[in-house]
Amino acid sequence: MDRKLKVGIIGLGLGRHHLAGYASNDQVEIIGVADLDDNRLHEAQSEYEIPETCHAYEDLLTLGPDLVSVALPNFLHAPATVAALDAGVHVLCEKPMAVSVAEAQKMVDAAKRNDRYLMIALNNRFRAESQILKKLIDQGELGEIYYAKTGWLRRRGIPGAGGWFTTKAKSGGGPLIDLGVHMIDLTRWLMGNPKPVTVQGSVYSKFAHTVEDGHYDVEDLAVGFIRLEGGATLIAEASWATNVPQESSYVKLMGTKGGAEITGDKLTVFTEMHDELVDITPIFHGHSWGDCIASEIAHLVTCIQEGKEPMSTGEQGLEMMKILEGIYQSAEQGSTIEIG
Ligand SMILES: NC(=O)c1ccc[n+]([C@@H]2O[C@H](COP(=O)([O-])OP(=O)(O)OC[C@H]3O[C@@H](n4cnc5c(N)ncnc54)[C@H](O)[C@@H]3O)[C@@H](O)[C@H]2O)c1
Repeated sequence: MDRKLKVGIIGLGLGRHHLAGYASNDQVEIIGVADLDDNRLHEAQSEYEIPETCHAYEDLLTLGPDLVSVALPNFLHAPATVAALDAGVHVLCEKPMAVSVAEAQKMVDAAKRNDRYLMIALNNRFRAESQILKKLIDQGELGEIYYAKTGWLRRRGIPGAGGWFTTKAKSGGGPLIDLGVHMIDLTRWLMGNPKPVTVQGSVYSKFAHTVEDGHYDVEDLAVGFIRLEGGATLIAEASWATNVPQESSYVKLMGTKGGAEITGDKLTVFTEMHDELVDITPIFHGHSWGDCIASEIAHLVTCIQEGKEPMSTGEQGLEMMKILEGIYQSAEQGSTIEIG
């Protein structure tokens, strides 16, 4: 494609970061934004001089975009994405892909049916430390990774307490589907996306009483035990509220030749040199959180222009949904869930 891509943004909460990412990309032209909230629409329009604003995402689709970002509450990801794909529009959909495996499957089917791109926005893959570690792993520096542990634990940090985030029918779940999705995805991606075979999980809701107004029927802490194809094991934990010293996120990988840890934005590789144990700290120019969304957007724009497959596909998102749904099912049934 030798012209700029026409893009639209649907949902202007986190979607404001998408807007900034598109605005910094000279290969796109922002043609419109959609949100039910007039204040958010007007703020975005005046800051970025956007030609069109709409309340309904269906109206944005009639403006003829090539690509839209879907940054709506989770339960609207599937309907908005399928509508966009059926209108012949490529989609960058925020995580989690959907609220269920069935909805995620509909999104993958719609992308195939319409021969359009569907990328799931997993911006942690685009952080500088993630990119460096992936390069080292792909060059064999860790050998066979057979054990991994990951998590994102907040001491107190229930998002939008009482609103859609804490309403299972609208969010699909609590911190597992909100934060855990980032860390499980990042870990599996670093490992080469091994398929999940079985999952077990436990979830807890111990802080519901702290939410005074609105609805709260999701977990505030989740733990998952995931067996992966090839024999590796991944343990994951996520909380919005639990009694830990402070918020932290981490990935720990243990391989036959070396290991690695990303803690916050610090990357350390554990290996051997000349029969000595050494720790290596790569030097990098850190990306800010906003930069990694701009990088993710630039990646998709280039893929569309050059006809390449993006590095975070709808199919991978569907596999992730099977893990998340499996953990919730396992927690409810007290059993091991086989992932087909
Ligand atoms: N990648 C990340 O790190 C990250 C961070 C935060 C949120 N997210 C994801 O982004 C998505 C949005 O989260 P958020 O924090 O921005 O939520 P939010 O509630 O702040 O924003 C959602 C926006 O969607 C609008 N909206 C709701 N229904 C609509 C409709 N039918 N048509 C048009 N607009 C509608 C709302 O008015 C609101 O402005 C979620 O899926 C969340 O998981 C991702």
